[in-house]
Amino acid sequence: MPDLVIETYELTKVFQGIGQRIVAVNEVSIKVPSGVVFGLLGPNGAGKSTLLSMLIGLTLPTKGGGKVLGYDIVKESLEIRKRVGILPERIGFYEHLTPVRNLTLIGKLNGLSGKELEDRIKHVLRMVGLSEHMHKNVGAFSRGMRQRLGLACALLKDPDLLLLDEPTAGIDPEGVKVFRGLVRDLSREGRTIVISTHLLRELGPLCTHIAIMKEGRILVQGAVKEIFEDFLLKRGFTYDISLSEVADQGIVEEIKELGNVVDVQLKGRDLIVRSKVDLGDELYDMLTKRGYRLRKFTMRKPTLEDVFLYYSRGEGTNEVG
Ligand SMILES: Nc1ncnc2c1ncn2[C@@H]1O[C@H](COP(=O)(O)OP(=O)(O)OP(=O)(O)O)[C@@H](O)[C@H]1O
Ligand SMILES: [Mg+2]
Repeated sequence: MPDLVIETYELTKVFQGIGQRIVAVNEVSIKVPSGVVFGLLGPNGAGKSTLLSMLIGLTLPTKGGGKVLGYDIVKESLEIRKRVGILPERIGFYEHLTPVRNLTLIGKLNGLSGKELEDRIKHVLRMVGLSEHMHKNVGAFSRGMRQRLGLACALLKDPDLLLLDEPTAGIDPEGVKVFRGLVRDLSREGRTIVISTHLLRELGPLCTHIAIMKEGRILVQGAVKEIFEDFLLKRGFTYDISLSEVADQGIVEEIKELGNVVDVQLKGRDLIVRSKVDLGDELYDMLTKRGYRLRKFTMRKPTLEDVFLYYSRGEGTNEVG
């Protein structure tokens, strides 16, 4: 497998309507390394589904191009669709058939048959927690059950790369937990998983890499760890400190003398210090040397929402890592 399982360059999609022109995907160059869990994160209308659809050749780019598993997304999309497990945004099933029958048809289209296909179907239905329902008609399925069946379809050909568009849409919290476990297992097996979502809190923790997308553009992309480090360097560090006794105002000046301090707030025993660089050790040493006993000393950890808001407001630069 290539080191980069997905690579696009200036991939663009313009939808031309009557009297309007929508740039759904705007010069997107993404890189997805092999073996990562990649979150394509963005609000409704950001262009996530259009981007995924271009990667598998279901939507033709207006400009730019790309490769998936080394295959050209325009000229070799058939090869891509053969190899990639896809959960599209809207998935249709034969309503009057059971999940097993639906999966059998899809499996046959993908060149599977006989005992191998039977075993595989049982396995994927178990993976997504649908074993109990395997003899019901899909017409009687709830939205969450359909979504799980969609996932089972994506897993059927045992793919090395999965593209999952809003995989937890309509799935209940228990199902989301199962899904997260499933993604972790699949990732541990060395597969690459791309998840598009706007549910930062629900699926963000799964991702080792992310791209933040808004209005057709990628605002930042890279390894989550590096994006957070970069965010901290740009936004600064915040410490929440609680002393065991009330401090006098002099301490504010002393902290400022450490240098690179943006702001110090003192309220009784509580201090909030904001700095441009990581001052944790120096601040801790200084306070303890002055004889203060510390009831609390923590650095605020930014969340994915903080990072998302920062970049989507246009405060960050383009690329990290
Ligand atoms: N077939 C189409 N014809 C015209 N405009 C389209 C078409 N498909 C998508 N769009 C427009 O392109 C933009 C991006 O849509 P897209 O569905 O890719 O966003 P998304 O990030 O997947 O959103 P969501 O989170 O709601 O699924 C939107 O403005 C949408 O209205
Ligand atoms: Mg979408």
